[in-house]
Amino acid sequence: MAGYILAIDQGTTSTRSIVFDETMQIAGVGQTEFPQIFPKSGWVEHDPEAIWESVLVTVKQALKAAGLEASQIAAIGITNQRETVVVWDRQTGKPIHNAIVWQDRRTASYCEKLKREGLEKTFSKRTGLLLDPYFSGTKLAWLLSNVKGARARAAKGELCFGTIDTFLIWRLTGGKSFVTDATNASRTLIYNIADNAWDQSLLDILKIPAAMLPEVKDCADDFGVTEKSLFGAEIPILGVAGDQQAATIGQACFEPGMMKSTYGTGCFAVLNTGRDMVPSKNRLLTTIAYRLDGETTYALEGSIFIAGAAVQWLRDGIGVIDKASKSGDLAAKADPQQDVYLVPAFTGMGAPHWDAEARGAMFGLTRATGPAEIARAALEAVCYQTRDLLDAMCRDWKNRSGDTVLRVDGGMVASDWTMQRLSDLLDAPVDRPKILETTALGAAWLAGSKAGVWPDRKAFAKSWARERRFEPEMDPKTRVAKIKGWKDAVRRTLTKG
Ligand code: G3P
Repeated sequence: MAGYILAIDQGTTSTRSIVFDETMQIAGVGQTEFPQIFPKSGWVEHDPEAIWESVLVTVKQALKAAGLEASQIAAIGITNQRETVVVWDRQTGKPIHNAIVWQDRRTASYCEKLKREGLEKTFSKRTGLLLDPYFSGTKLAWLLSNVKGARARAAKGELCFGTIDTFLIWRLTGGKSFVTDATNASRTLIYNIADNAWDQSLLDILKIPAAMLPEVKDCADDFGVTEKSLFGAEIPILGVAGDQQAATIGQACFEPGMMKSTYGTGCFAVLNTGRDMVPSKNRLLTTIAYRLDGETTYALEGSIFIAGAAVQWLRDGIGVIDKASKSGDLAAKADPQQDVYLVPAFTGMGAPHWDAEARGAMFGLTRATGPAEIARAALEAVCYQTRDLLDAMCRDWKNRSGDTVLRVDGGMVASDWTMQRLSDLLDAPVDRPKILETTALGAAWLAGSKAGVWPDRKAFAKSWARERRFEPEMDPKTRVAKIKGWKDAVRRTLTKG
C-alpha cells in the first residue's frame, strides 16, 4: 500500500485538506474559508453544513492537486478546532442548532454562577480546565436548555453531542461511527482526564444526559471507514487529535519538557509533562497531549486569544500595513528610545489572567509615536504573552528545567524579526521547523503510523528538522526593563486585581 495520507484540518476560519506522500512531504492542498456567524455581541457560531461542505470540497481539491484517486490514500487523519459544540439528530444526522464556537462567550454568566456555587475546584480537579465559556460543557448545557425539547430527546438517546471531529467522522462514515479521541474529549469540561472517562458527577451538575456522548478512543485508533459514495473509495480514518495537540505531535514534542507554541489567530503553548498530570496553580490548563496505545501523556497549556489577530488589526483595523508579512519590517524601524506597549485584550485576556472583561490598551504614547512603534508594540505583545505563559509553566512544573527550547509554528513565525524578538524576550532559543504545516502533519502521522505506512514515534521524532534557530541577543538590562514595563501595562489593563 502506498503511503499517501490525507490530513483534514478543520480550523476556526478555514478548512484545509492536505495529502502527504510516503516521505511526509506535501503532495496536494485544498483550502476554503466558511462564514463566521455573529448572532449577538460575544456570540460566535458556525453552520455545521457549511463545515461539512468545506470538508468535501477541500478533500477533492487536495486529491486533484496531488493527482491521486481516493483508493491511493492509505488513511485519513483528522484535526480540528477544539471545544466547538455540535448537537445533531441521531436518525437524520441533521444538527438541531448552529455549532457554538469555542470563542463564544454566551455562557459567561452561567460560568460565574457555577463559580459562586463553589464548583470551580470540582471541575478543575477532574478536567484540568477552568469554569470559562471557552470549553464545551456549558455551551452544550445552553443548547439543551434553549432548543425546545432537546434535553428530553437527548435523555432518550435521540440526539448526539460532538466536537467537530465527532460530527465529521459521523458524516464521513454515514453515521456508523459515533466517536471522538481523548484530546478532544479533554476540552469538554465533562471528561475526567485522570480516569479517562466521561464524568457522571459533572454531567449531573450540567444536566447533560450521558446517552448523547460519543465513545472516546486513542488518538491513533480505528475511527471507521468513509462511505464509498463520498470520494469514490472507502478510506479508513485512523488518526484524530484536537489541533493544538496535533501540532504538539507534528512538532515531535514527545518527551517531557518539550514545548511548542502555535501562532495562529491566537497563540497556544503546550508543554509535554509526560505521565504527570500537573495541576496548575497559575491558571494554566492541564490537558491530554495525546493518548497512544492506551497510555495518556499530559500537558500544560496556555492559551492567549490575540496573536496573529494583532497583525490583522495592524492591517485591517488601523491600516499601518497593507500586508501581514510587512509587520516585522515596519517594527524593525521603530525608535528604540520609545517604550510603547500594546496590551491586546481585544476580547479579554486569556491565560494566565482569564479576564473576560478587560479590553485593549496602549501605553507610553508620545507625539513621536508612529506606525512603526505601534507595529513593534503589537508584535512584542505576542512575545511578552508567550513569556508570561512560560513563566507560569515554570512555576507550575518543577521538572521544567528552564532551558527548554520553544518549537514554533503558525503564520506569524514566518517573520524573522518577530522570532528574534521572541527569543530575546524569552531569553531562550526558538526553533522554527522546516515543515510549518505541523498541525496537519501531526494528524497525518497519527493515521500514517497506525496504518503502518509511516515511521514509528521514535523515527518520526528523529525526522523532525529545524529550518532555523533564533538565539537570544538582547542585553539582559534591556530585557529586564522591557518586561517590567509590560507587567506594568498589563496591571493597568486588567479589570481584576
Ligand atoms: O482551542 C481552540 C483552538 O483549537 C482553535 O484553533 O487554529 O482553529 O484557531 P484554530
